[in-house]
Amino acid sequence: MPELIPVLSKEEIETAVANLAKKISADYKNGELVLVGVLKGAFVFLADLFRHLTIEVKVDFVRLASYGMDRSSSGEVRLTKELEIDIQNKDVLIVEDIIDTGLSLTFLVDYLNSFKPRTVRICTMIDKRQRRETDIRIDYSAHVVDRGFLVGYGLDYAENYRNLPAVYDLKL
Ligand code: IMP
Ligand code: MG
Repeated sequence: MPELIPVLSKEEIETAVANLAKKISADYKNGELVLVGVLKGAFVFLADLFRHLTIEVKVDFVRLASYGMDRSSSGEVRLTKELEIDIQNKDVLIVEDIIDTGLSLTFLVDYLNSFKPRTVRICTMIDKRQRRETDIRIDYSAHVVDRGFLVGYGLDYAENYRNLPAVYDLKL
């Protein structure tokens, strides 16, 4: 049986999301903010964060594929759903579930920059550092871990566990 070791409780997530939203609302109060969520994993985190923002904000989604059914990145990133709203001269905040090697996000930042936004920053629920391969700057994160394979609150293993209200380290 796989074992689920608690990493972040529902309450810890709620507090972290509220604090992040407060910071983001203050930082972008004079901007034109567009959240760009990375499907599928980020939809739970984004939905909570979005409802806590007290400024004017738009939202769109892209979908990246790099992981198959395995737990390590294939290294190859593909965009399988394009951005739909116009971000030219807008302030884009990418909302991601977890950043591991950083390869997905490096690819996404380049893609978004091709639409000439005013700014592009990154917000992730989990900043997982040990396997980072690129030097991307993460502007907002709810939690930092070194390693592990995390599930819950949007994060999956082979499409399971996304609905768990807390975050766990999955030991197979
Ligand atoms: P990166 O390109 O290596 O940074 O991979 C980022 C993507 O891999 C994330 O958006 C997740 O979809 C997936 N991923 C990386 N680590 C984990 C994990 O611990 N649990 C679930 N998904 C993960
Ligand atoms: Mg993801």
